[in-house]
Parts: sequence; C-alpha cells; structure tokens
Amino acid sequence: MRKGILLAGGSGTRLYPLTYGVNKHFLQIYDKPMIYYPLSTLMLLGIKDVLIISTEKDLIFFKSLLGNGENFGIHIKYEIQNKPNGIAEAFLIGKKFLNGDPSVLILGDNIFHGNELINKFTSLSKFNQGATLLAYPVRDPERYGVVEFNKKKEILGIQEKPKKPKSNYAITGLYFYDGTASEKALSLKKSSRGELEITDLNNIYLKEHMLKVEIMGRGMAWLDAGTCDSLHDASSYIRTLQKRQGVIIGCPEEIAWRKGWIKNSQLIELSKPLQKNDYGKYLKRLTINSKD
Ligand code: DAU
Repeated sequence: MRKGILLAGGSGTRLYPLTYGVNKHFLQIYDKPMIYYPLSTLMLLGIKDVLIISTEKDLIFFKSLLGNGENFGIHIKYEIQNKPNGIAEAFLIGKKFLNGDPSVLILGDNIFHGNELINKFTSLSKFNQGATLLAYPVRDPERYGVVEFNKKKEILGIQEKPKKPKSNYAITGLYFYDGTASEKALSLKKSSRGELEITDLNNIYLKEHMLKVEIMGRGMAWLDAGTCDSLHDASSYIRTLQKRQGVIIGCPEEIAWRKGWIKNSQLIELSKPLQKNDYGKYLKRLTINSKD
C-alpha cells in the first residue's frame, strides 16, 4: 500500500508578514486551513498512512488540529524538518516511515480539484515502478519546475525555476514514487540555493528511464497558495464553487465517511462542535438518511 508524505514546513517568506507568527499551512483557504486540501487529496487517493513533516515548533499545532488521524479514519505520524533544506529532504526524513514502500508526496500548499481527479490519480497510484509527475499548463512557468518535451512528447528534462522556460508545463506538487525514492535521495547534493531539489531527484529517475509525466487536462484545477495573490485566488475559487454547488471541497471528514473509514455515528459526533457554521451543518446533513 502506498504511503503519503505531506510536506508542511518551510518559512513562508513569500507570505510575510502573514507567516511571521503562523505556519503557512494553517492559513485560511476560505473556510478551512490550507492543510485540509492536500490531506484530502491523499485521502481521495485511498492513502491511510500519512507522514506530516514540519518544524518542531509548528508540529505541536498540527498535532492539536489533526491528532493521530483517527477522526478521519487514517493514521498520521509526524517528523521534524527544522530548516527548509529542500523538498527532496522529505525522503531522508521519511526513510524509516516509508520503509521501502512506494509513496505519494504532496506539498502542503498545493490544491487539486476536478472531476478526473480520483480516477486519474487512482490509476496512477497503482503504478508501482519509477516516478510519475503531473504537469499543468500555466502562464508563469518560471515560478515552478518546468518539463521540456520533444515533438513526440518524450521528456527531455526538468529545470527548476528556469529564467527562460522551455515549455509552459509546470510540474505540480503531487509526486508518485516507487520504493527507491529514499535510497536515491541519499545521493543528492544541495543546489546553488542550498536545497535538496525535488527536480534533481526526478532527473535521477529520468536518467534511469523511469520517469513518466502525465499532463493534467483542462477540466482539472491546480492551485498553489504560496503567495498573497495565489492564496486569495484559491480562497475565491473554493468559495465560488462551494456556494454554487452546495458541496464542501477538501473536507477530510466527508471523504473518510464516504470511504467507510469512519461510521455515521462518528461523523455526527464530529459535526457537533461545528454547528455554528456551514461546515458543521454540512457534515450533519450528510448523515441524515444514513445508517451505521
Ligand atoms: O508547487 C509546485 C512547485 O513546488 C514545483 O513546480 C517546484 O518544482 C518545486 O520546487 C516547488 O516549488 P516552490 O518554490 O513552490 O516550493 P516552496 O519552497 O514554496 O515549497 C513548497 C511547499 O513545500 C511549501 O508548502 C513548503 C514546503 N517545504 C518546502 C521546502 C523547500 C517544506 O516543507 N520544506 C522545504 O524544505
């Protein structure tokens, strides 16, 4: 079974002063903390073993928000990354947790939404060899890891934040790896910006002809909430859809309940302290007409 790593450290410098005193992943994306969204994505993929990595001082707050995961029918473990030494460090910190199992890494500020999401990701998740990345066309590829394709759409390489991007396909913050990711991460060297780059790990897979890049269709949305503008855009997006459709996006309690990981009676209990707002009322509504 694949395990999930959710990376929620970093210093959030692009969001100062918002993140002087608060870890970025607690910031509000409309009606819930940012971390609910990537956690929900992992859960939608069927992942029940999750490692959350963040700074020692912030882990206390993550633990009080999410505990050991039992409210969501999953198992959450925690590990410390005190300095943002790079995304690929997740595989060194998470080596013991992964214990050679295949994994999905998700960045804590990445939000995925769309109809194809579950089917596409579920089939990707079954692929247990090599690495699979998701690429998404964007207007500002220089902000991201960028994949270069030849005319046959074969991968030529991935560059991290290139000044002159060779395509407009950004690599999203959702990565599928086989069981060798931690082993491979051991050979990484820090980049010029002092980080163990996820792009360098992906290029190791590419050299071994073990890298696939799937292009995400237009019907799927990918947002990252790492700047003030993108944070605002993500909130507006979620608010607009939720108001229009009457459903909640990124609701771990609902996902757990729909997957049968928690019972109806548990969902009723979880909804009780939230009855003063729409989130709690929504959870309660779900349970009506359902039996344990
Ligand atoms: O969002 C996708 C992009 O994420 C990819 O296209 C890039 O290839 C990848 O390097 C990354 O770029 P960012 O510049 O957006 O990464 P950032 O430093 O903002 O960190 C992304 C998340 O990972 C954020 O939630 C904080 C967390 N993080 C980051 C680093 C470097 C950690 O927890 N620890 C770290 O050491």
